[in-house]
Amino acid sequence: MTLSDRVAVVTGAGRGIGRAIALKLAGAGAAVVVNDVDEVGASETVAIISSAGGRAAAILADISQSVEATRLVEEAVSSFGSVDVLVNNAGITRDGLMLRMSDDDWDRVLNINLRGAFFCTRAALKYMVRRRWGRIVNISSVIGRIGNPGQANYASAKAGLIGLTKSVAREVASRSITANAIAPGFIDTAMTQRLGDALKQDILKQIPAGCFGSAEDVANAVAFFASPESAYITGQVLNVDGGMVMV
Ligand SMILES: NC(=O)c1ccc[n+]([C@@H]2O[C@H](COP(=O)([O-])OP(=O)(O)OC[C@H]3O[C@@H](n4cnc5c(N)ncnc54)[C@H](O)[C@@H]3O)[C@@H](O)[C@H]2O)c1
Repeated sequence: MTLSDRVAVVTGAGRGIGRAIALKLAGAGAAVVVNDVDEVGASETVAIISSAGGRAAAILADISQSVEATRLVEEAVSSFGSVDVLVNNAGITRDGLMLRMSDDDWDRVLNINLRGAFFCTRAALKYMVRRRWGRIVNISSVIGRIGNPGQANYASAKAGLIGLTKSVAREVASRSITANAIAPGFIDTAMTQRLGDALKQDILKQIPAGCFGSAEDVANAVAFFASPESAYITGQVLNVDGGMVMV
């Protein structure tokens, strides 16, 4: 799979899954725009790609703000000439039981995980439609498919991303643009490192593979959806979860 001459924008690529995706796409030959709100993390991702001989640039932007998401895409186009691949990866959790969930925890999770993807997708599609080629990959979650106590906000945002993926896929399929979602299970990153040991043991019992996934496991699936080889696959949700959820 090669992405040479393609430009990829990866949101939330300053660490974790987003960084692994950025490294993978750069390794396949893409020029990668590393977006994050964390300047240090984004610069480190760029440095890793550059030292391996790849092309990358950091663009700081809070993708939950419409103006910033649009600026991100426009700066990507002015730096590298196009946006061919958009990976909506930036996401947060603010867990809490429904009865105690604050308006702010609801809004922050929906704004970053779902509205941010909407803003970036709308901005990128303008360029993809013109070039009649594009790949949109949304990082959802198995939680968006099955729900989870204490994650009503996160599950709603991740389920919403699946609806967004399918609607966009139907709108732009005739322009050779695909939109697919990946639903990771439990992946070993900062997001899951803060779970308690007892909870981790409980979760492991639900994973047939018997272990958490790695950020690279997710990145490998993204690389396929980003590649020319996946041209006839759109509107799909792929679980990357060691067999945890088989729907
Ligand atoms: N780790 C898991 O087990 C898991 C499972 C399923 C889905 N996911 C999803 O994968 C994605 C990446 O998760 P991760 O585990 O790498 O998380 P992480 O917390 O390690 O990294 C998320 C990155 O997004 C950045 N970010 C946060 N808000 C942003 C904003 N407004 N604009 C730009 N960047 C922003 C953060 O600074 C951070 O660098 C998320 O969407 C997450 O919901 C993770």
